[in-house]
Parts: sequence; C-alpha cells; structure tokens
Amino acid sequence: MASSSPRASAAAVAGVLVVAALCLHGAVAQLCEDYYDCTCPDAYNIVKRVLIDAHKSDIRIYASLTRLHFHDCFVQGCDGSLLLDGVPGVINSEKGAPPNNNSARGFPVVDAVKTALEQACPGVVSCADILALAAEISVELSGGPRWGVLLGRLDSKTADFNGASNLPSPFDNLTVLEGKFKAVGLNNVDLVALSGAHTFGRVQCQFVTGRLYNFSGTNRPDPTLDSAYRAFLSQRCPINGNGSALNDLDPTTPNTFDKNYYTNLEANRGFLNSDQELKSSPQAQGVTAPIVDRFASSQDAFFSNFAQSMINMGNIKPLTDPSKGQIRTNCRKVNAS
Ligand code: HEM
Ligand SMILES: *[C@@H]1O[C@H](CO)[C@@H](O)[C@H](O)[C@H]1NC(C)=O
Ligand SMILES: *[C@@H]1O[C@H](CO)[C@@H](O)[C@H](O)[C@H]1NC(C)=O
Ligand SMILES: *[C@@H]1O[C@H](CO)[C@@H](O)[C@H](O)[C@H]1NC(C)=O
Ligand SMILES: *[C@@H]1O[C@H](CO)[C@@H](O)[C@H](O)[C@H]1NC(C)=O
Repeated sequence: MASSSPRASAAAVAGVLVVAALCLHGAVAQLCEDYYDCTCPDAYNIVKRVLIDAHKSDIRIYASLTRLHFHDCFVQGCDGSLLLDGVPGVINSEKGAPPNNNSARGFPVVDAVKTALEQACPGVVSCADILALAAEISVELSGGPRWGVLLGRLDSKTADFNGASNLPSPFDNLTVLEGKFKAVGLNNVDLVALSGAHTFGRVQCQFVTGRLYNFSGTNRPDPTLDSAYRAFLSQRCPINGNGSALNDLDPTTPNTFDKNYYTNLEANRGFLNSDQELKSSPQAQGVTAPIVDRFASSQDAFFSNFAQSMINMGNIKPLTDPSKGQIRTNCRKVNAS
C-alpha cells in the first residue's frame, strides 16, 4: 500500500499519511525508521554530508554530537529541549546547567544541519531527530556500529534547567548512576553499554583532579586508579593547573569508536569516577562488572548492545503529540506563533 511514487507531489502528500499511519500502533504514536521516507527521503545523507564537512576542521565533533543526544534525551525526553537558547523570563536554557555549561558543544554544527534540511525539506525534520541521526552517523563514521535510527519526534517548546542540572555526574557512585538510568527506563546493560561512548572525545582536567589529589576528601589519590595512568594524568592535570585543559577519554584510540573503553576499565584506567565505578565499585561485583568484562572481551557484543541501547535511549518519552510539540525552524528558538 505504501508503494506510491514518492516523487509525485500528490503521492508524497498521501505518503505522509501512510508513514504516519505506519508509525501508529493502536492509539500510541511510536517512532519508526521510515518516518521521513516520503517527506525528506535524503535526510540521512544531508545530515551525513554536513557532519563529514564539520569533521574536517574539528576531529572531536563526532564525540560532541553523540553526547548531545544523551543530554537531550535524559531531560524531559528526546525533544530537542537542550538546543533552545535562553529567553529571559521564558526559557531558562539547559545549555547553562552545570553539566552543559562550558562543556556541551557542537551547537553550530546542529544549526548547519538544520539549515541544510530546511533548504531541502522546509519544516519537516525535527531538531530532536537531527540529534538522533547525528549520533548514529557520528558513531558509524568513527568505526562503531550502525543502527536504524527511529524517527518522528517533535521538538519541545520548553526547556528544563533543573532536569539538566540533574544529569548523571562524573562524581556519582554506581547506585546513583543506576538510579538515574532507571528513572528514564534504562537498565544496567544500557548504563554499561552507553558509557562505552567514552571511547572517544575529550574531558577536562577538573573532572579528574579529585581522583588524583584528594579522593573523597582523603588528600590521597583514588586507590583504584592505575599508578602509571595516575602519573600520566598528574602531569597533564597538575594540582593547581588549568581545570579546563583537555584530555582524551580513551588515550589508546582517542577518536575511534571501539571497545577500548572497557579494556581501559579492566586495567583500572577509567578517566571518570563514574567510569571506573562500573567495574570496581563493591556494588558492581556480580552486577555491572560482568557486563564490562563481556564488552572488554567482545567488540561484537559491545556494538550490538550499544546499538540497542541507543535505540532505547532514543525512545525516552518521545514527544509525538502535535498539540505539545512542533518542528522548530531554528533549533535554538520556539517557532513564532
Ligand atoms: C553514565 C553517566 C555519564 C557521565 C557521568 C558522563 C560524564 C561525562 C563527562 C564529565 C564528560 C566530559 C565533559 C567535559 O569535560 O566537558 C563526558 C564526555 C562525553 N560523554 Fe559522557 N557521561 C555519561 C554517559 C554518557 C553517555 C550515555 C554518552 C552517549 C551515549 C556519553 C557520551 C560522551 C562523549 C562522546 C563525551 C566526549 C564529548 C566531547 O568530546 O565533546 N556519555 N561525559
Ligand atoms: C556558565 O559559565 C560562565 C563562565 O564561563 C558563567 O559566567 C555563567 O554564569 C555560567 N552560566 C550559568 C547559567 O551558570
Ligand atoms: C552513593 O551516593 C549517595 C549520594 O551521595 C549516597 O547516599 C550513598 O550512600 C552512596 N552509596 C555508596 C554505596 O557509597
Ligand atoms: C580535600 O577534600 C576535602 C573534602 O572535600 C576538603 O575538606 C579538603 O579541603 C580538601 N583538601 C585539599 C587540599 O584541597
Ligand atoms: C585552559 O585550557 C583551555 C582549554 O585548553 C584554554 O582554552 C584556556 O585558554 C586555558 N586557560 C588558561 C588560563 O591557560
């Protein structure tokens, strides 16, 4: 029934209805892979082209964009809320919340993707879906797995500064991390698999200095930290040095999406406390530690679980009700009404 030519514009209009119908399961709107097949069939390739171009001058961009999808989805669902700029008295931007301020990056590239999509198919592809597509393409182009991205999210008209302030923290222990994932419907396999995104990208010194010099207020280093890695990081992040200086999250293959995040954890070379907790916390034994072990020994196992967990994360409270959401024309602003 969906075999009408997407080229004929009348058929394209019919196609919208068909696609929308395919995404409806009973009364519940769900996301689906072919959401834009009729309305913006080239969306995936357009996003990919802009990302490849951005990567030419910014080797870190694939990691940064992958993180944006996470920070979007964990705060009132995957609805592009992260992308809204502040409007005094109206929008308290999530970009200013501690986990994002001076940390989340890649917003100009999201704008460039949006501009390219608006040129090809005006008013069709949501900013929330741009983040989901950009994450998949970024992982794939970095050597990681591919997956069929589910689409059909709408964009929010609101942001949640307090929600963004409560994102998982690098100083959280395993119990707190598990709780924050559970609160959005994600389990321990999701927690361990998604943390594997720390196989690429950069991290500021301020997130490790506590572990290097004053772990839990002991004035001693974190005893779980491998001593050679501690010496290496102490040189890069001296005690009263620049807390914004950058390090590789995975020093073995800094820009490649592979399983080395887990082999690092096995060697007590996790950068963040929240990373090493997954393997070394007393609470991890028999719980998350065996999942780390499994992914450290099988890249295939990691890749297939990561792909599934990204789909699970992308399904956090999808905004599909047109009375609540919209397709923003500019990802930074709610549409003028
Ligand atoms: C489990 C809880 C998590 C915590 C506590 C956490 C924390 C952090 C922190 C502190 C940084 C460095 C920020 C900076 O230095 O400015 C970072 C970077 C990063 N995170 Fe996470 N993260 C978590 C989960 C995730 C997830 C689920 C993903 C994606 C699926 C992700 C992807 C990334 C990436 C790719 C980077 C590097 C970004 C760049 O280079 O711009 N993280 N994370
Ligand atoms: C974000 O960080 C800057 C310093 O770089 C600071 O001036 C600003 O107040 C911070 N924003 C918020 C909302 O706290
Ligand atoms: C984890 O952190 C929370 C909040 O700081 C604390 O209440 C809890 O006791 C900690 N759990 C463990 C096992 O350290
Ligand atoms: C180490 O941390 C504790 C608790 O957070 C703090 O009271 C103490 O001043 C810190 N020591 C140094 C040298 O910064
Ligand atoms: C600290 O490091 C950041 C990131 O490399 C850099 O932009 C900034 O200029 C540095 N600040 C100082 C005071 O050196």
